[in-house]
Amino acid sequence: MSLTRVHNLSISLDGFATGEPQSAESPFGHAGERLHGWMMATRFWSKTDGTIGADHAFAARHDPGIGAEIMGANKFGPPGWHDDPNWKGWWGVNPPFHTPTFVLTHRPRPPVEMEGGTTFFFLDASPSDALQSAREAAGGKDVRIGGGPSVVREFVSAGLVDYMHLVQVPIVLGRGVRLWDGLEALEEQYDIEAVSTPSGVTHLTFAVKNN
Ligand SMILES: NC(=O)c1ccc[n+]([C@@H]2O[C@H](COP(=O)([O-])OP(=O)(O)OC[C@H]3O[C@@H](n4cnc5c(N)ncnc54)[C@H](OP(=O)(O)O)[C@@H]3O)[C@@H](O)[C@H]2O)c1
Repeated sequence: MSLTRVHNLSISLDGFATGEPQSAESPFGHAGERLHGWMMATRFWSKTDGTIGADHAFAARHDPGIGAEIMGANKFGPPGWHDDPNWKGWWGVNPPFHTPTFVLTHRPRPPVEMEGGTTFFFLDASPSDALQSAREAAGGKDVRIGGGPSVVREFVSAGLVDYMHLVQVPIVLGRGVRLWDGLEALEEQYDIEAVSTPSGVTHLTFAVKNN
């Protein structure tokens, strides 16, 4: 069965997955690159060099078995992108998704086909309807909920996430967008495991309980 998965979602000790304010110059606001330093050090990210230890092993699970991604409007672009008809995401002509990619937005626009297999589809839809569209496009493979935190929270709240890999980074951001708000007692729904690695981060996996 097709699973709904979250991978490599990096959060601070106080639960923020981005700082503020988000902008074209600073996509993660005052967090800068601190949330993702652990991943950028791995070969998964840097391709030609980088570490190949435990952080790499977790990071590299991002892609296998994925047939479509769903992301939020604020991951797709900085504030104001809706008003730029030429905005096609942060990632250049060949984005790293290589699958149909569904951008949730209240201001949808026609699909944009990129190089390398990524086509951006823009949807104003409930989480369950968006997931149905993504599942159809994924051809039996899994669907990744790519973030940001608001969209992950929305899908977790709706009970639509089967597996979630979070990475707790030892920084305190104090402000930004928090993942956890409203998700009280989430531990009752998931089997949770934690593994700390020598880089100083803690990988947390949430596997939905089979009731
Ligand atoms: N820490 C990490 O690992 C990680 C991973 C991914 C992204 N990020 C960062 O997270 C930040 C973005 O996260 P965020 O929480 O601010 O926003 P987000 O989750 O990317 O997007 C939220 C926005 O998506 C649209 N949206 C959400 N649900 C919708 C629905 N059901 N129907 C229609 N539109 C819907 C709305 O935008 P509109 O109303 O404007 O259309 C909403 O304001 C960025 O800084 C990004 O770089 C961090």
